[in-house]
Amino acid sequence: MINRGLSLVATGVVFLTLLAPDHALDNGLARTPPMGWLAWERYRCIIDCKNYPDECISEKLFRDVADMLVSEGYINVGYQYVIIDDCWLASERDSNGRLQPDPERFPNGIKALADYVHSKGLKFGIYEDYGNYTCAGYPGVLGHLEIDAQTFADWDVDYVKLDGCYADPKDMNEGYPAFGQYLNATGRPMVYSCSWPVYQEENGIPPNFELLKQYCNLWRNYGDIDDSWDSVSDIINYYATKQDTIAQHAGPGHWNDPDMLIIGNFGLSLEQSKVQMAIWAILAAPLLMSNDLHNIRPEFKAILTNERIIEVNQDVLGIQGRRVYQKNNIEIWTRPITPMIGEEYSYAVAFVSYRTDGTPRAVEITLQEIGLTNPTGYVLQDLFSGDTSTDTNPSQTLRVRVNPTGVVFYKAIPNNPSGSLSGQ
Ligand SMILES: *[C@@H]1O[C@H](CO)[C@@H](O)[C@H](O)[C@H]1NC(C)=O
Ligand SMILES: *[C@@H]1O[C@H](CO)[C@@H](O)[C@H](O)[C@H]1NC(C)=O
Repeated sequence: MINRGLSLVATGVVFLTLLAPDHALDNGLARTPPMGWLAWERYRCIIDCKNYPDECISEKLFRDVADMLVSEGYINVGYQYVIIDDCWLASERDSNGRLQPDPERFPNGIKALADYVHSKGLKFGIYEDYGNYTCAGYPGVLGHLEIDAQTFADWDVDYVKLDGCYADPKDMNEGYPAFGQYLNATGRPMVYSCSWPVYQEENGIPPNFELLKQYCNLWRNYGDIDDSWDSVSDIINYYATKQDTIAQHAGPGHWNDPDMLIIGNFGLSLEQSKVQMAIWAILAAPLLMSNDLHNIRPEFKAILTNERIIEVNQDVLGIQGRRVYQKNNIEIWTRPITPMIGEEYSYAVAFVSYRTDGTPRAVEITLQEIGLTNPTGYVLQDLFSGDTSTDTNPSQTLRVRVNPTGVVFYKAIPNNPSGSLSGQ
């Protein structure tokens, strides 16, 4: 959650001079984008368990999510982390200065919840905030970095999302790395999800991506996602507009994070849900669902669990894709992926339409125009249907019909130099 109303006062803080590293965070985690479930977009800060017993931020909710990830098979396609967001805390620290959860909503404490999540074969994540308070006004970590990192380790946390409300964005180049070092010093590997770029961007400070890569496994670049196509398409446009400065920083262990998957909720049509899934795969984005796992219609669940698309998202090369074409409200996005045949990449290729004029729009283009130049051509697979087409030569015109606010998503695998079909 991002507090857009944050007002800033210059504080004259002296900055540490940190050398730009030529290596990235090496805690062994998030070698591919993290996958799991995160509470915020769907459940926000519901703390009224009397009136909303199945939705309030409580032990019951997260145990239930863990149960559902397993029983509904999400765990089998890679969804692994169960992550609490804001509003889990009591309003005060305990008498030893430690964080503590709300006693009514988490009666058995966080360690017991983590144990339960682990017993299901899943991993457990938690939320805090670098500032004096979380965005919703609960105690933040500022002034308590070391003890809070240790508390999370003691609770067997696997993933920490650290927000940036009630903090000075000018301090974040020091403060976020300091918390990361305390996490590291606990000896417990924990994925570290940072929010500092978005707060800095909003205040006109260009984020230092070299520093981010050294200390964070993923980071939020832009504002929170909401339950609408407007929000999803605005986020996609941000990542396209900024791709020349941010895409290059993604890679194994360190990812740009465009925020949660909202597929299965109220705001997106089936076609728009396919767009979110396809573009999150192209962007090498974390796949963190925020939805009600009890109420997802089968056709939406099929999108969330499409293994061909998840395979693109989780591609081992970790190269973030880009928008390579934009005309008449149609965009084409490509991402280099495996298998590589000799020197030639395979590609994920998404044709996205923002049009609303009622009929599928035909796009005519050659593969070479969008950077797919293997002389012996490609085999295309439709990642939603699984259908495979025959060879496509790079100079041959492809005609693709894209539904209004929809997507056609292909994987293009290069033919090997002898011209015969490449195996997988
Ligand atoms: C955090 O709280 C301390 C102690 O009250 C205060 O001095 C500091 O200015 C606060 N920081 C921010 C960013 O609000
Ligand atoms: C701590 O950092 C070192 C150096 O980057 C790394 O080798 C180690 O795996 C990290 N440990 C944890 C628990 O993150």
